[in-house]
Amino acid sequence: MSVEAEAQPTQILPGDDPAAIAHAAELLRAGGLVAFPTETVYGLGADALDPLAVQAIFAAKDRPADNPLIVHVADVAAARALAREFPPLAERAAEALWPGPLTIVLRRAAIVPDATTAGHDTVALRVPGHPVALALLAACGRPLAAPSANRSGRPSPTTAQHVLADLGGRVALILDGGPTDHGLESTVLDLSHARPLLLRRGALTHEQLEALLGPIDCIDADAASPPPGEPDPEQEARARALAAARARSPGLRHRHYATRARVELVPEGEGESAAARALAAGERVGLVCRRAVNSPASVRRLPEALEGFAQALFATLRGLDDDQVDRIVVESVPEVGLGATIMDRLRRAAAG
Ligand code: TXA
Ligand code: MG
Repeated sequence: MSVEAEAQPTQILPGDDPAAIAHAAELLRAGGLVAFPTETVYGLGADALDPLAVQAIFAAKDRPADNPLIVHVADVAAARALAREFPPLAERAAEALWPGPLTIVLRRAAIVPDATTAGHDTVALRVPGHPVALALLAACGRPLAAPSANRSGRPSPTTAQHVLADLGGRVALILDGGPTDHGLESTVLDLSHARPLLLRRGALTHEQLEALLGPIDCIDADAASPPPGEPDPEQEARARALAAARARSPGLRHRHYATRARVELVPEGEGESAAARALAAGERVGLVCRRAVNSPASVRRLPEALEGFAQALFATLRGLDDDQVDRIVVESVPEVGLGATIMDRLRRAAAG
């Protein structure tokens, strides 16, 4: 069954106003949708245990039905209630990192509906580290399914205005918490199998997770070239497991972070020449980089520090789209720590 997204007026209220939180909680308890800030990006929330409410999320976003939602909960106890098992690694991660930008995938409890998990036998859980999100969870007393509050395929929203641009007329209420801290989504860690697996790089880095939990495979690891020498059964088993995980990973199947303008990712230092080529071809060009450049393109110089770069990235891509450039040239960042997450998003954006 599908639910049509119906045109409705969209209200924006300040997220730090208790009356706005109470109103939002009431809407959610009645099966409605509310967009709210988290420390990563804005989410489009609904009661995670109400299949009809959850279907309305998919309709509002035009989200493919096979892509499951993250369930936001108030604390670890609420997370435990939604998982069939809460293994020791999950306990350790939750204890150290929640509230925060980590999503943990576990085997789901029977009360979590198929609509939320897209029929998967697992559920993605996180306790968000944002006062407005936590106040809303406390006030409504329900777990909240919430994907990023963008139209499916678009960059995630980092301000209430981005949500309005994508979902105006499709959501009753947006709680405004200002620009989000991280600007990139949470890290998705699958702990439903014996071997932990990073399904999506995010605001919390692979290195930070490994420091806490030990070695963790990443789904984007280069499985194409087996190491030289004798076949290693352990390596082969790992490559097979990664290939199987990729095949069943819903988040990898769809378009992501797409701007209207074409995104071109170039090595650091080559932004001006790439922009010059496109300008010569008659295109309107935006150039995103971390250094001072001399270019007739619309230059967006982002902070050198990767935290600042990440925080501004999606807003910058959306802003250049609003300025109606044809092409956005982006200079690569070093692929370590948060840089690996940034490069993941940029590659997907460039893939269109
Ligand atoms: O930071 C965030 O994670 C934001 C805020 C609002 O919490 N949410 C977010 O949700 O980015 P979304 O729906 O845009 O991305 C959720 C990702 C998708 O890649 C989805 O496939 C994956 O999590 N996911 C959700 N449930 C899953 C499951 N049961 N198994 C595997 N992957 C899952
Ligand atoms: Mg998303």
